[in-house]
Amino acid sequence: MKSIERIGILTGGGDAPGLNAVIRAVVKSACNAGITCIGLEDSFDGLLEFNHSRELTPRDVTGILRLGGTILGTVNTGDPFAASIATSEGPRVYSERVVEIFHKMALDALVVIGGDGTLAIAHQFGKMGIPLVGVPKTIDNDIVGTVNCFGFDTAVSFATDAIDRLHTTAEAHRRIMVVEVMGRYAGWIALWAGVAGGADAILIPEIPFDISIVAHRLRERDRFGAKFSIVVAAEGACPKGGRPSLIEAATDAHPERLGGIGALVCEALAKETGKQTRSVVLGHLQRGGAPTSFDRVLASRFGAKAVELVRRGEFGVMVASAPPDIVPIPLEEVVGRTKTVPLDSDLLMTAKALGVTFGD
Ligand code: F6P
Repeated sequence: MKSIERIGILTGGGDAPGLNAVIRAVVKSACNAGITCIGLEDSFDGLLEFNHSRELTPRDVTGILRLGGTILGTVNTGDPFAASIATSEGPRVYSERVVEIFHKMALDALVVIGGDGTLAIAHQFGKMGIPLVGVPKTIDNDIVGTVNCFGFDTAVSFATDAIDRLHTTAEAHRRIMVVEVMGRYAGWIALWAGVAGGADAILIPEIPFDISIVAHRLRERDRFGAKFSIVVAAEGACPKGGRPSLIEAATDAHPERLGGIGALVCEALAKETGKQTRSVVLGHLQRGGAPTSFDRVLASRFGAKAVELVRRGEFGVMVASAPPDIVPIPLEEVVGRTKTVPLDSDLLMTAKALGVTFGD
């Protein structure tokens, strides 16, 4: 087995709280094992030119554990396998250039921290000969093979806090408040924050909803004296027979952008119930700010495990949370799939037992 002396690290896709905690853990555990760490800037773009990266020492990652964002920058647009790019040496196919610079930089392995899109790209680069280990990142919690992803707990905590605040104003005005949360095609954030925040209705992509069923449940609350309600809508939720609401259709550069369902549900509930309704979109606030202690710990464990796997020469895998352990699982089993909320999941059943409607 080739000895590991230099590794590259990059962050790709939308940011999530905890990215810096992973970078710190990778750099510290690699350097402690005598391995040089090169931070590649702006995802795989860091492997297009020599001047798009820098060495990271333990000194460089001091104090970043608690910081949101990523000190390396990130990109969530474009397809490296379709793109041709202008380089200092003329136009090149993006993916071929990446492999070439990886070797010219004398890197022995890569640690790629990203969501489903970035991990799928990493998997392709693995097939092109780059030895790499993936680290799953997403606030959406939709990556298969891992029970948790860092970023999710922070997003849920933020959304729960927002729902708590909306409760007091909803109650004061006897209104229905609709909160739209992120999650793409999975309802994890909506379900967890909805249960944690005591929502009366939770709308998730996995369960197409009937607005009249939601309205009926909220009118019942009026009858027993609770004259306000909280509805949590996942951005990917859609009415029965309908389609998810989009801010922007997919283009070659980026996937479709979900959003707007909160406002539609708000308007429909106003008509169906005759009550005052308001909607709030939490948006990117869910992705910003400091990671929770849970996410800092998970991110640190992922980073340390990734370096352990690199040192063992176990490539083409992703570190995954399988409580109480962090384990490697083949990228092959992860990419191209989405972990949605199972319809028989315990938390879904709990919510239903508590009287929360999903509009079904
Ligand atoms: O994957 C995380 C996520 O926050 C999704 O929940 C959301 O749909 C998407 O990213 C938005 O990404 P951006 O606005 O960066 O394109």
